[in-house]
Amino acid sequence: MRVLVVDDEIKNAELTALALRDAGHETEFVNGGLPALKRLEAAPFEAVVTDLRMAPPDGMALLGSIKQRWPDVTVVLMTAYASMDTARRALKSGAYDYVDKEGEFREELKSILEKAERERRLRADNERLSGTVDQLTRGLATIIGGSRAIQQAVELARKVAATDSTVLLRGESGTGKDLFARAVHFSSRRAAGPWVKVNCAALPESLLESELFGHEKGAFTGAIRQKRGRFEDAHEGTLFLDEIGELPTSLQVKLLQVIEEKTFTRVGGNQSVSVDVRIIAATNRELEEMVRERQFREDLFFRLNVFPIRLPALRERLEDAPALAEFFLRQHGASADKLTQEAHRALGRYSYPGNVRELENALERALILAGSDPIGVEHLSFAEPEGAEPGGRAAAGAGWVPEIPPEGLSLELLERELIVKALARARGNKSQAARLLGLTRRTLYSRMERHGLRKPGEPEEGGDEESPGDQAANAAGRGDTRP
Ligand SMILES: Nc1ncnc2c1ncn2[C@@H]1O[C@H](COP(=O)(O)OP(=O)(O)OP(=O)(O)O)[C@@H](O)[C@H]1O
Ligand SMILES: [Mg+2]
Repeated sequence: MRVLVVDDEIKNAELTALALRDAGHETEFVNGGLPALKRLEAAPFEAVVTDLRMAPPDGMALLGSIKQRWPDVTVVLMTAYASMDTARRALKSGAYDYVDKEGEFREELKSILEKAERERRLRADNERLSGTVDQLTRGLATIIGGSRAIQQAVELARKVAATDSTVLLRGESGTGKDLFARAVHFSSRRAAGPWVKVNCAALPESLLESELFGHEKGAFTGAIRQKRGRFEDAHEGTLFLDEIGELPTSLQVKLLQVIEEKTFTRVGGNQSVSVDVRIIAATNRELEEMVRERQFREDLFFRLNVFPIRLPALRERLEDAPALAEFFLRQHGASADKLTQEAHRALGRYSYPGNVRELENALERALILAGSDPIGVEHLSFAEPEGAEPGGRAAAGAGWVPEIPPEGLSLELLERELIVKALARARGNKSQAARLLGLTRRTLYSRMERHGLRKPGEPEEGGDEESPGDQAANAAGRGDTRP
């Protein structure tokens, strides 16, 4: 973010600006309220960090002017006289947050600005998205995600919705094929017509045929009267054929015929029935491979594949995970800040083999586990690194070395994340977390302080390794008792 730091104690302004630059912000600093206003008039800033006590205009006055003229600017106050009163007053007048200049306030500022930035991004995403998504869904399905990958899929869906083309939705389980199928139907000209869904994997071949195409009276034992099939039900609407890869070969021929000629015969009948049905099919199978192995007819594949939409796996668009998480939290009546920062970060790093559905389920579970507390990493079932051996002993140099991605990485951040992971794995038990990292408890404490995971001077739970404090925690069931 572009951040303007304001303090008439210029040394503090400068040091704070430097610290925030280290955290990746673009910063400038000025030495008072008037220069600040001048600078804001000249250039756009997303955030202002200002001292409260200054020669007039002081921090409160500056806050007032900013909120009046640039209401979107995030304002954070620094104060050496932190009293609940001033703070409350500042928050009421539109300040985003405040820090106590006496503590480790620069680290705190970093995390406050990080949170503000995330929220700004979310808001921008939502605003940008509401345009496309409204058209696409008419309130019936909400597709969340600002990533390029999902936006491309939304764009394709929007374009094809306007036509009668057959659509093939492809993607792993839980990527939103169902959601997109509905979105296409309900934003098409057929929206007022029927929406009919058949899961091709759910019924054995004989029943599936009559389910899809209907049967005449007496067609088979038990066919005591004529029955309409789902194709007829879907007349003038859309038929969604889910798990199309599971369609038996005998029915593949029949489906091809409906697509090509718009007619079919009911089971046990010879009268041909015409229908006007749009077909949307979905699969998580590699149909090309099935064609090579003669499990799927090539001619049907080409008919279905006129307009494929591939839905990206969530791990290919991890940047969407936080927005999805907040969407699901809201759906469950929780607010977005129910997530701790650590949990928020963890959400953006997991690989989600079960895709969006897994994320949704994990949050539902976390909400139950957390109760009225914030959701932390310990409530997320997937917070532990995958494939980690359950023994819980430090690898001590043997084995795991992370790859360095082409864009590089921050060793500081990596260390912080590993500490968070170790603490989550050890369920907060510091001795155990230290062991996982091959550190002494004391070293773990000092690194936690360095990374803002612990307030300096916070009393330690007991003294050295294997402290009674930790054993008590174990006995109370808070930690686990692995060696
Ligand atoms: N982009 C998205 N925005 C909001 N919710 C989503 C999104 N993608 C998926 N979901 C939600 O995730 C869950 C799983 O999606 P869906 O059932 O559409 O997946 P699918 O691809 O059909 O999976 P399967 O192959 O297992 O049938 C649903 O609750 C759906 O609403
Ligand atoms: Mg589905």
